[in-house]
Amino acid sequence: MARTYVVTGSASGIGAATAKTLRDRGDRVIGIDLRDAEVAADLSTSAGRADAAARAIELSGGVIDGVIACAGISAPIAKTVSINYFGVTELLEQLVPALQKSDAPRAAVVSSMASLQANSAELVAAQLAGDEAKALEIAETFVVQGPEVGYITYPSSKRALARWVRRESITPTWAGNGIALNAVAPGTVITPMTEQLLATPEGRAMVDANVPMPLNYHQPAQSIVDVLVWLTNVENTHMAGQVIYCDGGADATLRGDDIWSWSD
Ligand code: NAI
Repeated sequence: MARTYVVTGSASGIGAATAKTLRDRGDRVIGIDLRDAEVAADLSTSAGRADAAARAIELSGGVIDGVIACAGISAPIAKTVSINYFGVTELLEQLVPALQKSDAPRAAVVSSMASLQANSAELVAAQLAGDEAKALEIAETFVVQGPEVGYITYPSSKRALARWVRRESITPTWAGNGIALNAVAPGTVITPMTEQLLATPEGRAMVDANVPMPLNYHQPAQSIVDVLVWLTNVENTHMAGQVIYCDGGADATLRGDDIWSWSD
């Protein structure tokens, strides 16, 4: 049966490919993006998120079966935490009432293998505490030191998002309402976000030094879409709180074979 999905970042890259895949198989998609979407909204602000959620719920008729949050940026600016963390978490929370009305509600977000990179514990903590003003203040202290230092806003936003998914997925709001909540963490995906960086040998070498991808190298958006779509399918009855590294083996390369010793 056709399902109703909300897809953020639907105008480009992974979000656009997700929306197309869902529409091609007969599902209904309400896209949210800055432009070229059913709902044009700016997810970097609280007002934009509230407006986006209200309009998406209205367009859906009140019942949303799946939410796939792809919108994000990788710029070394403070706004990165507003879009990549609060633009996902606040929006998702506001869509819960409509998800609750579905027979098989699911949500999936896009984190990144960058969640494994050097990040700021203080910035991650401010995001997880839901304190956007403080998070922006901390982010700005890195940004003013230039793009190399300012980049830390990106892995910090993706680390916080991955931790939010694990923390929230098992709560009454999500698991308690039967809503499967998970994340996908891509490696280097060929999209407009990475186009410029991958266009030069120097850019590629820089990316590859940080994102080792022994399995099949740089990935097409569809490799992420297929995981996002499965996570939000009716069939996903028991996967919750997972951050799935679909990254050509970057996570296994970087973290090695022992990620279980926390309980030893
Ligand atoms: P993209 O740049 O092609 O698409 C991102 C979309 O998000 C754009 O349509 C953009 O307009 C939208 N967006 C940005 N700011 C927004 C805002 N304030 N409000 C509403 N929409 C906004 O990028 P791509 O590659 O498709 O990225 C999708 C997600 O995947 C992002 O969260 C990104 O961090 C993540 N990711 C991408 C990787 C890559 O190598 N391309 C690797 C790992 C994660």
